[in-house]
Amino acid sequence: MPGQFVILRLHAKGERIPISLADIDPVGGTISLIVMAVGKTTTEMSVMKEGEDILDLCGPLGNGTHIEKVNKVILVGGGFGVAPLYPIARAFKAVGSEVVCVMGARSKDLLIYEKEMEDVCSKVLVSTDDGSKGMKGVVTEALRQELEKGGTGLVVTVGPAIMMKFVSETTRPFGVKTVVSLNPIMVDGTGMCGGCRVTVAGKTQFACTDGPEFDGHQVDWDILMTRQKTFTPEQRVSFDNWKQRHTGVLCE
Ligand SMILES: Cc1cc2nc3c(=O)[nH]c(=O)nc-3n(C[C@H](O)[C@H](O)[C@H](O)COP(=O)(O)OP(=O)(O)OC[C@H]3O[C@@H](n4cnc5c(N)ncnc54)[C@H](O)[C@@H]3O)c2cc1C
Ligand code: FES
Repeated sequence: MPGQFVILRLHAKGERIPISLADIDPVGGTISLIVMAVGKTTTEMSVMKEGEDILDLCGPLGNGTHIEKVNKVILVGGGFGVAPLYPIARAFKAVGSEVVCVMGARSKDLLIYEKEMEDVCSKVLVSTDDGSKGMKGVVTEALRQELEKGGTGLVVTVGPAIMMKFVSETTRPFGVKTVVSLNPIMVDGTGMCGGCRVTVAGKTQFACTDGPEFDGHQVDWDILMTRQKTFTPEQRVSFDNWKQRHTGVLCE
């Protein structure tokens, strides 16, 4: 279902990482994943060659996006977050909603799924931090302008936590329901390790089994962003060690 994710492990010594479904073809039996190389495992994936195998992949995990007809839904994606919004856009369009997409990235080279979104959405608004394409600045300005036109029944956002926090702050004064897809550190993805716990409306929730989507106006963003940094020193050491072992494999 749109909104769900998988957890994969590249090889027997690999860590488990969660990745959202960027496209689903139940007839063909395929899924698409879009991965942004930010650390050891995602970089290791990015240098894999066509035809190489991923050792195991567990899913679908989490709950699918609640799809029902709304007058106008605005989907706000940042970075890799635009990809999981694509099947969500198709599902909202299929039930007769008008779908508007606001997508942002640091620069135009990092924009993805623009053409795909244009095929599904009535409008695609692009913003880049450096102004290399579309509106210069962050996605919230384009979102605010679209909200001011009225008629929006729902906002769904996927991307970095800081972006989803400010998207939620932007929609709050308009009273528009805002669904966010949370991305805490995950291990098992089945509600057993507690690694993905988040605080929503003052209650502890597990993003893997209760989410990953929650009401953005009720999320404790500070706790989420603090917990995301729990293993930063270990992640850096692990990535540095991997880079030393693979000098020459990396393009940069
Ligand atoms: C439900 C869910 C769906 C996701 N979907 C996608 C997706 O479709 N495509 C994609 O590229 N990534 C996705 N992510 C994020 C992805 O899982 C992380 O980027 C990945 O685990 C990083 O692993 P690494 O070993 O490469 O880097 P690490 O060394 O583990 O981390 C490198 C850097 O990335 C940050 N990071 C680590 N984990 C996360 C995280 N969960 N969210 C945000 N930043 C993180 C770290 O703080 C650190 O700064 C998703 C995360 C969740 C929880
Ligand atoms: S990832 Fe372990 S409880 Fe959610």
